[in-house]
Amino acid sequence: MNKNIVCIGAGYIGGPTMAVIAKMNPDRKVVVVDINERRIAAWNSPDFRLPIYEPGLEDVVREVRGRNLFFTTDIESAVRECDIVFVGVNTPTKMFGRGAGRASDLQYWEASARNIKRLANGDKIIVEKSTLPVRTAAAMDAILNYGDSPYRFTVLSNPEFLAEGTAIRDLLKPDRVLIGGPQDEAGQKAVAELVDVYAGQGDAWVPRDKILTTNVWSAELTKLAANAMLAQRVSSINAIAGLCEATGADVDEVARVVGADSRIGNKFLKAGPGFGGSCFKKDVLNLVYLCESFGLHTEAEYWNGVIKMNDHQQERIVSRMFKAMFNTLANKKVAMFGFAFKADTGDTRETPAAYVAKLLNEEHVRLSITDPKALDNARLDLEGLDRIEYVEDPYVAAEDADAVLLMTDWKEYPKLDWARIYSSMRKPAMVFDTRNCLDQTALKRLGFNVLAVGK
Ligand code: NAD
Ligand code: UGA
Repeated sequence: MNKNIVCIGAGYIGGPTMAVIAKMNPDRKVVVVDINERRIAAWNSPDFRLPIYEPGLEDVVREVRGRNLFFTTDIESAVRECDIVFVGVNTPTKMFGRGAGRASDLQYWEASARNIKRLANGDKIIVEKSTLPVRTAAAMDAILNYGDSPYRFTVLSNPEFLAEGTAIRDLLKPDRVLIGGPQDEAGQKAVAELVDVYAGQGDAWVPRDKILTTNVWSAELTKLAANAMLAQRVSSINAIAGLCEATGADVDEVARVVGADSRIGNKFLKAGPGFGGSCFKKDVLNLVYLCESFGLHTEAEYWNGVIKMNDHQQERIVSRMFKAMFNTLANKKVAMFGFAFKADTGDTRETPAAYVAKLLNEEHVRLSITDPKALDNARLDLEGLDRIEYVEDPYVAAEDADAVLLMTDWKEYPKLDWARIYSSMRKPAMVFDTRNCLDQTALKRLGFNVLAVGK
């Protein structure tokens, strides 16, 4: 009989991942639980006003919700009725005590493990879906299998590689799925069970040769390494961008040619305002902390450079605006186009836009923020700051502005009527295209002063 699944944590990972697991395994029951009642109510909302915006997600949820996918706050029944427990709770950077500012805060993880142990009524496979420091599975194993429990818990590591904005596509056609498991017989049996989940009913989902298995520690470290290397590419191209600005080279031209080398590849070479999102910074910091914990100080310093470069990139945006706007920003109006950390998501966690907005606020800028999906989150992120307005319509946001500061590469922005925007702004009017996604030559022709990254 096929094993039923529960996922603890109904966030950006738990929701979409379980929806696709349910879609591709119609013969399994999949239950997603969370302590956040509002989130669960949103997942269950009759008009499908889901708690996160992700292209394609609503269609999948419409197909499977109530069929074999269920959202609930009733963790007790959910854990009792399942055989495989995914844990996808948040693991933010710890902000207190030892490792503050770098280590992962594992309190939600440990609480979940203790809950599973308390509620279990049979053997269970526990799947780490959250991104965790190397050797967390050992700690979980110790908590779960401690004492004289009649039940056996096998802990697997199954890190998720989806990116927000393309989550459904990434889940349906992943480059690879990674499953790390203990090397003993019980461990390998559990790995095989999880491989079957990803292969899907009738082997219709992930081709089995793309489901890679490793030991648990390799799987945990691979996730941190993959994110660190992606983040490092962004910092590397942004470091080149600074040099391009100083020398007259064009970073997009440099990236195009560098990326044409098949050994390097052309992805993740887009210069911009620096990386945001809930994971890159936290996971690189976690790696830094791990290196330090093992006395690997040079390695720690190397990875910390990725973060330093990223912070610097955002500070540089404000310095360049300051210089271009006659060394004073006080009382000038800046229309910020885009607040999400990337296009196609409403997520604003660690978004460069928030950091830049705060720096501009310190300069007494009047900020008018617009974004197709992230305005509600922007309001929460910048709560308490004055001189900020939140505007749905980009044309309204730009009225009487001294500058448009484009922070997110939403595809609607290049299609706007920039002549109309120019005519409604104060002169001299400036555009700072931090994503290099606008037709900068056309903007110059309209009369804009144009700033770009790496040009
Ligand atoms: P999130 O904050 O959106 O979701 C986590 C959810 O867990 C929240 O809804 C929270 O209420 C719930 N939760 C916390 N403690 C709980 C408990 N004891 N019982 C039940 N529910 C509980 O976070 P996320 O973005 O989904 O990330 C979760 C994990 O996945 C993190 O470790 C992250 O690094 C990893 N990850 C995220 C992404 C991504 O794209 N967001 C991609 C890969 C990996
Ligand atoms: C990233 C990884 O791509 C996923 O594989 C991983 O699963 C996920 O982190 C995670 O662990 O949470 P995500 O943060 O959702 O996914 O989005 P990305 O597409 O990686 O973008 C991250 C940031 O880098 C964004 O701010 C984006 O604008 C920026 N970026 C990306 C660039 O500035 N230039 C690029 O070339 C690529």
